[in-house]
Amino acid sequence: MTVSAQKIPSQIEGFCRLCSEALAGMDSDEARIRYTRDMLPRLLLDKSLFTRLLQDALAGSGYPDIKRPTVFDNEVPLYVDRQGVFSLRMYLWGPGEFTAPHDHSSWGVIGSPSDGYEVINYRREDDGTREGYARIVPVGNFLLKAGETAHTYPFDEGIHKTGNPTEGTILSLNMYGRPAPRGFVYGFDEANHRAYKILPPRRKKEQLMREALRFLK
Ligand SMILES: [Fe+2]
Repeated sequence: MTVSAQKIPSQIEGFCRLCSEALAGMDSDEARIRYTRDMLPRLLLDKSLFTRLLQDALAGSGYPDIKRPTVFDNEVPLYVDRQGVFSLRMYLWGPGEFTAPHDHSSWGVIGSPSDGYEVINYRREDDGTREGYARIVPVGNFLLKAGETAHTYPFDEGIHKTGNPTEGTILSLNMYGRPAPRGFVYGFDEANHRAYKILPPRRKKEQLMREALRFLK
């Protein structure tokens, strides 16, 4: 794994070992999602695990690593499988905080150890051929209870927005499969029919540097 091997709770280590072996042998996203939805509640229902993760992070123990740049600023990487089969990430949600609608470049299974994590799924209605344009409509939402999960598919089949409609601060635990080699996710502006690329921090800096170089000439 690529995050610090120190102080990883044994529950996460054991869970990820099982998932690594099982998921690598599966041949469809449906099977991987089914398995992960069956497994993830084992961690989600272990509140002492999340208490420890938060306390360790706040104590600066090095795991979880909150210094590492991530695509989303509320994201904390917990585990990245050595073979790239999956990654496990924690997200923090203040009261009323939601993502913009976005897609993913892999399948995903998401849930929370607390009640109230909300998932709103969208359907894309245009054919995706116009760069920067997208028409999406909400098709359903789930308000998850502690330990419940939802899932997502890669690209247009998995456009969703997630967040926290409650008055407390909650966290979610999200497991994602092997990402397709696209290198970014799409964010969507539902009202203005816009699709925009969300790049990882390093790629974003590199892209802006390339553009800035052009303008320096
Ligand atoms: Fe998402």
